[in-house]
Formats: sequence, structure tokens, C-alpha cells
Amino acid sequence: VIDLDDAEARRAADPSDMLGAVARLASDARRGYETGLGTVGLPDVDDATGIAFCGMGGSAVSGDVVRAAFRDRLRLPVETVRGPELPEWVGRSTLVVCSSYSGNTAETLACFGEALERGSRVSVITSGGELGARATSNGLGVISVPPELVAPRAAVGHLTFGVAGALEAMGLLPRLGGDVREVEQVLEGLAPRLGPEAPTAANPAKQLARRIDDRVPIAWGGEGVGAVAAARWKTQFNENAKIPAFWSALPELDHNEVVGWSAGSGDRFFLVCLRTSLEPPDVSARFRLSRDIAESAGILAEEVAAAGRGALAQAFSLVLTGDYVSAYLGLLRGFDPTPVEAIDRLKRALAGA
Ligand code: F6R
Repeated sequence: VIDLDDAEARRAADPSDMLGAVARLASDARRGYETGLGTVGLPDVDDATGIAFCGMGGSAVSGDVVRAAFRDRLRLPVETVRGPELPEWVGRSTLVVCSSYSGNTAETLACFGEALERGSRVSVITSGGELGARATSNGLGVISVPPELVAPRAAVGHLTFGVAGALEAMGLLPRLGGDVREVEQVLEGLAPRLGPEAPTAANPAKQLARRIDDRVPIAWGGEGVGAVAAARWKTQFNENAKIPAFWSALPELDHNEVVGWSAGSGDRFFLVCLRTSLEPPDVSARFRLSRDIAESAGILAEEVAAAGRGALAQAFSLVLTGDYVSAYLGLLRGFDPTPVEAIDRLKRALAGA
């Protein structure tokens, strides 16, 4: 088993430097915001009535973050579309944001084509690929993301803040400068505590990865940014640690999942409770009671509290923590965090089908 505190061993086990990519989240957020804000050729959305955010996997998370973090400030309803078909309500007065890191994801390209046919106001965020080329040939402004990142999921800072900056530039969100500054401060404060240079004895992310060990992680979050963070933890466990993982949200899970935590059913699981100060009091009480039920079923549990005050800062503090924990868990399990061989194989098989 790798010693997470041995820099040379880490470099050998993480040759694409996923850990380095995680460490750049604060500066990615700043760069993404500035790029979004300065993007030329964004659509005119003065009379827009809704936003459809189309993307898959690592390129869809940003839509969920924007929807949850700005729900008190966005006048328009937002739906994240994770598939190749636009819902019927999408029409001429809808802003359709197509998000694909590679620009070559079939589902996102299908939504893009459909949005153009329906005459929607289309905006694209990508590092290039077919989506970038088609957007440019249609005279659409592209919110650009650097093409050299290690993986789409490592682009979450660029993708989220690129879209947020563009929404501000389009007049759909108020000025976000203060939010972005808080995100930077919070992440810059956390990274040295959670990052690879901090020894296990003083590093809560390395400790949590070791506690999870070979149990299956379950992430719980409160409806809103907590739940979005829980979903991100789940997919990062899948992709960085190559392990099954699950997530759910409170209060919903109190109406179904808790019943599943019956005697002995938790023995192979590890519960991570992602907490924010934005939870309503009812959800805080539910966390305590629901965790008790799961622990009676044999689950091991730990709480991770978000840092910061604003919704975006709290969301990204949890994202940063989960990105580190999942990458450390991958290394402890003997996996290079970066490759996602099964996703690549599926994409190839479907492209040839
Ligand atoms: C994350 C990852 C996937 C992709 C997804 C869509 O690192 O590899 O979740 O994000 O397959 O691809 P893109 O983001 O290129 O549209």
C-alpha cells in the first residue's frame, strides 16, 4: 500500500498529477469566471423564460451547482438535461447552455443540434472538439476552457465559473465578484490542510480516505448545494477511486432509504455526511437521527462540514474535499486516479455501433 506522505511514491502512482489538478481549483474558479464574463457573442436573453443546461458527467455538475447555488438569485428556472433529448418546453425563448469539456460527447452534441433547430438562444462551453467547431461555424460565442486539463471532471472550476460569469454577462445573475473572491479565499485556506504535502496525521482528507478503506462510500447532503456536493463525491469516488458509490439527499432519504438501513445491512458501507450552514433546522435534526439509524445497521460514518458562508464557497469547499478524498482513496486502493477506461471503452463502442 502506498504511503500517501511519500512525494516520490505519489508521483509514480499519480503520473497525470490528478492531485495537482485538484490543488488548482481556486485559480481555475477565478480564471473560469473571468473567461465567462469576457466571452463575446453570448446570446441576447432579455426575454428568456428558462435555462436548459445540457451536459454529461463531469461537464454536467456545473449546471447543478449553478442551479442550487443561485436558486435565490436566478429569476429563471434551470433544468439540467443529462441525455440526448431536449424537453418539450425548450423553445425560442429558452437559453440552452451546452457544456462538454471535450466537445465530442454525443448526448450534448444532439441537444446542441436540436436547440439550433428549435431556434433557442444557444451558448456553448467547451475546450474545442466538434461542439466548439459547430458553435463557431454558427457564429456563436464559445466560453472557452483550457484543452490541457487532465480530465473533464478536473475542469469543474472552469466549467462552473465560466457559466456563472457568462450568466452575469448576459444579465441573468447579479455581480458575482464577491462570491468568487470568497470561493478563492476558502479554497486557498483549505488546500494546504487537505493537499498532498500535509501529512496524514494532520490531514483530514487522507485520514478519511484511510477510514473508508474497502467499504462502499455513501454521501448524504442536504437538498440544495449539499446534495449537489454529495453527487459530486459519488462520481469522484467512482472515477478517481474506481469503486461503486452512492449518494442521496435529506430530507428525501428519510422517506425511503432509511428503511434499508436494517440490522447488519450497513456492514460494508461508509457514510459521509456533508453538512452546510445553509441547511434548514429540520434537515440538521434529520442528519442526526438518520445517521443514528444507519449506524445501528453497522455503517461507519463521518461528518464533513463545509467551510465559508456563501452557497458557492460552501459547495466548492465540499467539492475540493471530496476530490482529494477520492483521489487519495484511489491511490490507497492501488489505482491511478486519472484514467477512466470503462467510460472510454463505452464511448468507442457506441461511436462504432
Ligand atoms: C469525467 C469524465 C466524464 C465526462 C463525460 C462527458 O472526467 O471523464 O464524466 O465528463 O463522459 O464528457 P465531456 O465532459 O467531454 O463532455
